[in-house]
Amino acid sequence: MCPRVISDIKRLSNDQIPMSKDDSRMWGGRFNEPTDEFVQSFTASVSFDRRLALADIEGSNAHATMLKHIGVLNSDELTAIEYGLQQIRDEINDGVFTWSVALEDVHMNIEARLTELVGDAGKKLHTGRSRNDQIATDIRLYLREQIELCRQGMRAFQAGLLDLAEREADTIMPGFTHLQVAQPISFGHHMMAWFEMLERDHGRLGDCARRMNQLPLGAAALAGTSYDLDREFSANLLGFDMPCRNSIDAVSDRDFAIEFCAAASICMMHLSRMAEELVLWSSAQFDFIRLPDRYCTGSSIMPQKKNPDVAELVRGKIGRVSGHLMSLLMLMKGQPLSYNKDNQEDKEPLFDTLDTLIGSLRAFADMVPALEVNREKMYQAAQQGYATATDLADYLASKGIAFRDAHEVVGQAVAFAIEADKDLSACTLEELQGFSARIEADVFEVLTLEGSINSRNITGGTAPEQVRFQINAGRQMIKD
Ligand code: ARG
Repeated sequence: MCPRVISDIKRLSNDQIPMSKDDSRMWGGRFNEPTDEFVQSFTASVSFDRRLALADIEGSNAHATMLKHIGVLNSDELTAIEYGLQQIRDEINDGVFTWSVALEDVHMNIEARLTELVGDAGKKLHTGRSRNDQIATDIRLYLREQIELCRQGMRAFQAGLLDLAEREADTIMPGFTHLQVAQPISFGHHMMAWFEMLERDHGRLGDCARRMNQLPLGAAALAGTSYDLDREFSANLLGFDMPCRNSIDAVSDRDFAIEFCAAASICMMHLSRMAEELVLWSSAQFDFIRLPDRYCTGSSIMPQKKNPDVAELVRGKIGRVSGHLMSLLMLMKGQPLSYNKDNQEDKEPLFDTLDTLIGSLRAFADMVPALEVNREKMYQAAQQGYATATDLADYLASKGIAFRDAHEVVGQAVAFAIEADKDLSACTLEELQGFSARIEADVFEVLTLEGSINSRNITGGTAPEQVRFQINAGRQMIKD
């Protein structure tokens, strides 16, 4: 999909933008002295909200079309505005648009240039509109599209996990609880656990986008407007489900941005857990996987090193994203209705959350499916940790011993095996029968790793047959 409202514009600081193109500010009429230069720079948002420029233009186009539809603009005026906005879009995309801090924000920069280009028609564009409903619209337009990119990133990563899981459905590794070897599992099953986490993350972002998809335009400053705007018409043009039902709420709340950052934080938490496993598994001590070289770096002093930097960075980036969630919650907390300038502070945390999430998903979607699995090493590790002890207990229970008693018996057998420094499967039948007379020669079938995972052939279990079933179901899920 080719994004419609994304601008590649990167953040500049206010002092990298010229102070003034036209010092007569839009509200000059009421003031006796010009705004202090420091205050202009302190209050300006253009350095970062320029990123919303293309969304702003899209919103203005729809507003102008609606104004023509209700007779506030004539055809010539609409044509002039459309031409001017197109020209501005080109200038922005070509990097030749002159931004001014004196014009404070993205809205006034674009409107001033529009009036410069097309004269009086440009001055009519703001009819029935305020920057308050304008910014609330811009953020929604922008975020809606960016959420779609996040969701595509999740889908790409999920598709890679399905391939990896399929390749390694029969690969046996030790499954852990408390980071102690617990039971043998299929490596593919482990990858499918990651897939499920992402599936919920994908759903959460979808919920967030749906709830957000109402149009603020028409709320004007806070109370609505006396112009007979056709808000349904505008909503339709911009792909919103409906206009916001309450003008005060429409301009004041940023809960949709908070909700997005909450969902993004959860996803980053998931990525952070995956990252930790990648770091552990790629260490010499585990040696379960090898990460592609292009995703690792070396050390300037230790020639032998190959560091899993990308995984470590993603592990750490939950810090900034959950920090952004906190800053947005604190920003909103205690604000009286309706719009307050505090809300201008919503953008930088939101943008950084988007960049971080999209970047992290991209890195993992590329890196994880390309990892090399050390099947032998995983197999050996599963053999060493008495991972089939539960299978032995289940075996005894199937021979009529109550599970609690079987647990006790197997505990003694494991203690013996540890003492003798061998695996349960390496004990002789006589040795095992010393712990329970019910044990027969068929016990060795359940003591093998393969026997153990194949026996867990229940919905959601780790038997490769089940894993393949879930992989097929997963392929259907990610088609939507
Ligand atoms: N830059 C402002 C923001 O981000 C736009 C809305 C300004 N409205 C106002 N009344 N000052 O929230």
